[in-house]
Amino acid sequence: MKFFIDTANLAHIREANALGILDGVTTNPSLMAKEGIKGEAAIAAHYKTICDIVDGDISAEVLSTTFEEMVEEGKKLVAIHPNIVVKVPMIKDGIKAIKWFTDNGIKTNCTLIFSAGQAILAAKAGATYVSPFIGRIDDSGWDGVQLIEQIARVFAIQGFKTEILAASIRNANHIIACAEAGAHVCTCPLDSILGLLKHPLTDIGLAKFIEDAAKMGA
Ligand code: E4P
Repeated sequence: MKFFIDTANLAHIREANALGILDGVTTNPSLMAKEGIKGEAAIAAHYKTICDIVDGDISAEVLSTTFEEMVEEGKKLVAIHPNIVVKVPMIKDGIKAIKWFTDNGIKTNCTLIFSAGQAILAAKAGATYVSPFIGRIDDSGWDGVQLIEQIARVFAIQGFKTEILAASIRNANHIIACAEAGAHVCTCPLDSILGLLKHPLTDIGLAKFIEDAAKMGA
């Protein structure tokens, strides 16, 4: 399973990248706005900086919602860097735009996926990735990981090449569950990635090893 970081925060991106396990980055308008990025030039510069830090797919989301506007925006986004993946919302014009991008050799990430039907439609249009939002599904009383399992089954049966990018991750257990459910990619906040490191027995064991190492003259 590939690891993406789900943020526009450059310090978090640098910290995760320094671990050497990062395969890409996802952003969205809310994450970009949180970093105070405003205006076309600043947005493009921020994406360029992210692409210079991480060598992998970088999802940049369109801000428009009509086919024509999304295509124009997507063309500008991919001109920023060859690693840009155009992130497109799961709406009717979004599907048309994904098909256009696919036909023109441009990678896409279909975002705001909450059902297997939506994932099938995006895969049919040729999306590189579909992003089911598992945390938001859990928040609304449904089971996000079950959706990943269902999409993984459907894609395997149908032979779809589209990768399942588990999004809206809330904790380290979500990452493990998504790996088990067949997600190809998990995009996570830094805290959830770092959460994978933690186990109290590791801390206790290391403390003992350090104590005993001192006895060895280390
Ligand atoms: C996906 O790419 C989105 O950026 C993200 O995972 C949304 O997660 P949230 O529910 O934490 O906002």
